[in-house]
Amino acid sequence: MVALTGAGMSVESGIPPFRGPGGLWTKYGEPPMKGYERFVADPAKAWRERLSPSGPMRELWETLQRARPNPGHVALAQLEQSGVLRHLITQNIDNLHVLAGSRLIAEIHGNATLVRCIECVARFPRESIDIEELPPRCPRCNGILKSDTVSFGEPIPPDVLARCFEEAEDSDCMIVAGTSATVYPAAQFPIDIRRRGGHLIEINPFESELSVLASISLRGESGKVLPALAARLLAVA
Ligand code: APR
Repeated sequence: MVALTGAGMSVESGIPPFRGPGGLWTKYGEPPMKGYERFVADPAKAWRERLSPSGPMRELWETLQRARPNPGHVALAQLEQSGVLRHLITQNIDNLHVLAGSRLIAEIHGNATLVRCIECVARFPRESIDIEELPPRCPRCNGILKSDTVSFGEPIPPDVLARCFEEAEDSDCMIVAGTSATVYPAAQFPIDIRRRGGHLIEINPFESELSVLASISLRGESGKVLPALAARLLAVA
């Protein structure tokens, strides 16, 4: 069993989703797919904007700063520690799964507490990097550093993408929690598992693109449903 999570996982931690009721993109509109192109064109300017964000990004960063893991994050970490959950693929950049104790994790859209070199793909804690001069440079190869979060239009870093495909290919059962399953390649993993005859357990208060494929849909908030599911699983594990 593996899991795929999205923004809905962190709604009960105070971070708004992107789509649907209360979604950032619902409120501000979907951002242009030029994020990465703009970064490469003028990295210093992109960093200045990142350091003093406005609009949806300001709202996102402010909620990220205050957020703490909720019982849903903790339940997935417990399932990993008990050996029931083999891997977790998250689309979230909020680091809450890591703070909750998940270690077998692939952050397919990156992690907001890290920076990544666009040359050698090395990652460093954001706080360990001196940002006197912009753009900051990679301590290993002197390449340009950007936030580890994957910008719109940026290819998913090859190391993370390869791990996601590997883990999904080995799986015959996926918990899909808190995602609209509308963004690829992440949304492809559950489809492939279902195509191979595997099972999907959807956890979402509302219908999603995956509901038709789900073996079981648990209509509730992940912070309430996942602890209950984990308790049942750990009782028989
Ligand atoms: N518990 C579980 N699911 C919830 C909850 C909750 N408490 N609240 C909302 N949801 C569900 C919504 O019904 C919706 O289906 O979470 C889903 C959130 O969907 P999106 O906002 O589209 O988030 P996500 O699927 O993670 O988006 C994918 O899109 O904008 C990009 O990079 C961004 O990683 C993100 C990607």
